[in-house]
Amino acid sequence: MSTLELVGLTKKFTGVTAVNDVNLSVGDGEFVCILGPSGCGKSTTLRMIGGFEEATAGDVRIDGKSVVDIPPNHRPTAMVFQKYTLWPHMRVYDNIAFGLRLRHTLKEEIDREVKSSLEMVGLSGYERRYPAQLSGGEQQRVALARALVLKPKILLLDEPFSNLDAQLRVRLREELHAIQRRIQITAIFVTHDQEEALSLADRIAVMSAGHLEQIDIPSRIYAHPRTLFVADFIGVMNIFSTRREGNMLHIGQYAISAPGGLDSTEKINIAVRPEDFLPIEPDQVPNNSFLWQGTIDQSIDLGHYRKVLVVVPGLYPDEATAISHRLKIYTPKASELKEGARIWLYPTRYLVYSDREEPIEVHNQAMKTVNLNELQR
Ligand SMILES: Nc1ncnc2c1ncn2[C@@H]1O[C@H](COP(=O)(O)OP(=O)(O)OP(=O)(O)O)[C@@H](O)[C@H]1O
Ligand SMILES: [Mg+2]
Repeated sequence: MSTLELVGLTKKFTGVTAVNDVNLSVGDGEFVCILGPSGCGKSTTLRMIGGFEEATAGDVRIDGKSVVDIPPNHRPTAMVFQKYTLWPHMRVYDNIAFGLRLRHTLKEEIDREVKSSLEMVGLSGYERRYPAQLSGGEQQRVALARALVLKPKILLLDEPFSNLDAQLRVRLREELHAIQRRIQITAIFVTHDQEEALSLADRIAVMSAGHLEQIDIPSRIYAHPRTLFVADFIGVMNIFSTRREGNMLHIGQYAISAPGGLDSTEKINIAVRPEDFLPIEPDQVPNNSFLWQGTIDQSIDLGHYRKVLVVVPGLYPDEATAISHRLKIYTPKASELKEGARIWLYPTRYLVYSDREEPIEVHNQAMKTVNLNELQR
């Protein structure tokens, strides 16, 4: 049983509040990714959990007990850092055994534990090598073994794979995922790579400018971003600023339904995922339709789907803005969408962000005349 709680955790450096009132509860065996842009306070948060940075305010509790007064080497945490941090003059064996020796663990037990942790990261037989004789990926596996051998209650990982090439990163990510599931260790993984977070995490904590924007399971972070920041930061999103007139939201010369329950009249943005646009073939455009009309600027075959960039002048006050704000649309690969062609489309699902707390999800009913079954392929 190992749980972690961050309560009002805050870190102020001179002139910067790096972490601002962060509250987070991590359950036993849970894998939480802290995701956010560079400088948002991810590492500082992790370093406060590990004890490498003193909190200005707030508390870090492990299994319900505050650990803020415990130095890092006595906390029940172990950290894997971004940069290789193995001791270059020590063999792999001694790098891993180091922490156990500090704890005066018996020699036979050290032997057993070093062996088993190397096995866990797939490096059995590497005991006698020096770090310089290992690849980057192997070094990070040793760093992981060195953390795991301490049997920490909470495993902390600060972008451990970001120095590795893309393929190796994916492989180590999958291995880490398997290890974490097998030993069911509670872990916090910091990254600015959303694919990494989406593929590893039980829950993702999205951070921006020192505070938490949303904590949720990956599918909800993607489908229901709670703030416009998260909507924009996670995945690809088309964002439009609108003005409300009655029960319609106006975007340039177009209008779409405003959701019921929207009180706000100002600062309303809508966000549409690229896969939530329905393109309509010219011969199927219904009469009197108020579909969005544009021109296909780029149509890119991405193997399993097609990415289409569309210029829709009517959405913006002028052509130049329309060109710089091309709509991003994903469609099935088979769709015949050629560059230069005219296109009609509309958003089938969108999220409405106002100054209210929660976004409102709209499934577009405005195009009732269109037979979706006929058109969607
Ligand atoms: N020791 C320090 N003294 C002063 N400011 C610091 C210190 N460490 C971090 N900061 C500032 O705190 C903020 C958060 O830094 P942090 O390293 O936590 O960001 P991060 O989210 O990990 O970014 P990255 O993705 O680039 O690693 C930044 O503005 C940074 O400049
Ligand atoms: Mg960092």
